[in-house]
Amino acid sequence: ILNNVEKLPADALFDIKQRFSKDPREVKVDLGIGAYRDETGKPWVLPSVRSAEKLVQENPNYNHEYLAINGLPTLTSNAAKIILGENSPALAENRVISVQSLSGTGALHIAAKFISKFLPNRTLYLSNPTWANHNAIFQTQGIKTATYAYWDSKTKSLDLQGYLKSIKNAPNGSIFVLHACAHNPTGLDPNQEQWHQILDAIASKDHIALFDSAYQGFATGDLDRDAFAVRLGIQKLSKVCPVFICQSFAKNIGLYGERVGCLHLVLPQQDDASVNLASIKGAISSQLSKMIRSEVSNSPAYGAKIASKILSTSDLTQQWYKDMITMSSRIQKMRTSLRDKLVSLKTPGTWDHIVEQCGMFSYTGLSPDMVQRLESQHAVYLVSSGRISIAGLNDGNIDHVANAIDEVVRH
Ligand code: LMR
Repeated sequence: ILNNVEKLPADALFDIKQRFSKDPREVKVDLGIGAYRDETGKPWVLPSVRSAEKLVQENPNYNHEYLAINGLPTLTSNAAKIILGENSPALAENRVISVQSLSGTGALHIAAKFISKFLPNRTLYLSNPTWANHNAIFQTQGIKTATYAYWDSKTKSLDLQGYLKSIKNAPNGSIFVLHACAHNPTGLDPNQEQWHQILDAIASKDHIALFDSAYQGFATGDLDRDAFAVRLGIQKLSKVCPVFICQSFAKNIGLYGERVGCLHLVLPQQDDASVNLASIKGAISSQLSKMIRSEVSNSPAYGAKIASKILSTSDLTQQWYKDMITMSSRIQKMRTSLRDKLVSLKTPGTWDHIVEQCGMFSYTGLSPDMVQRLESQHAVYLVSSGRISIAGLNDGNIDHVANAIDEVVRH
């Protein structure tokens, strides 16, 4: 038995880290995984997190007991306000169910399980391209996936007409996974006017939206601005359909390995007085509990306590806003610097898209062959799609990276 188990290729993203750490070359740069690095290239523990950790540990009641199955209530309720807004009508109308999850991936996983059980036989549409893990998460739950047009490689901009056409051509009631902001991998978001068109088209087909919110705060440095699409989506779509939101605190609180996130399910408005919203919420919540209990029993507590402390303590929340500005403005500075260096090297091609894109990533347009040469000749590591994590750049390595890109583009 077990003699015929097929060996799978290594995970494309995590394998970059492995290859990078084994590389003996002195000058090497990791632009692979989307994790923030400071100006010295090191992982950064946010000052707000350091203060929150201290407060959590100094609490005389500090312990390592289990959380409730659906998570830490101060985390889930504050997390809902962060994404939906303090004055969210959906919150005021008590239409939101929030459960804690193993970061964004865990939220997507619970959403996928829930969809496959209670919203079966619907095709789920992912942007082309999308985060590599999306396909695996939904397909593992037996959900049929398809793609919608997104990136126009010729113009390095949004293929809005193609996007709207995909929405129109999808069978009514399909599920659309939308990147809330700072699209991964392209760094290209629809503008506000385009979001109106996209969400109106989704509403007109009774499609269900699932927002993946992994980078709130990274697109503009401002949480509310980065929640624009989600909040507009709820306003336009939750009249008749539920809206799913998968929220990660891996990047914006820098709690990567602690796995802190939430799944929020916004229920449709109920005009019919005979419908008992509280009992629907109770039923759905009980189903989510069962799914969570059978898989992880309950979510990890430590990171949840830190995130919850930051979101519920005014001084720490203010510090966290500053920390996000520190991260997003350094990334922006590196975008400009990389673009300027490529322009001054007269590297063939246009490079303005690097500054026009937002969030942690730039979809450079470099070919798989160029990416391969960047790694083998210059020890610059990135994803074969040409995506670079801008957060991996700093003043100490940017010349090396720009020169390396220049060399591979020319040859
Ligand atoms: C990324 O795309 O680099 C991140 O979201 C990390 C991951 O888990 O894939």
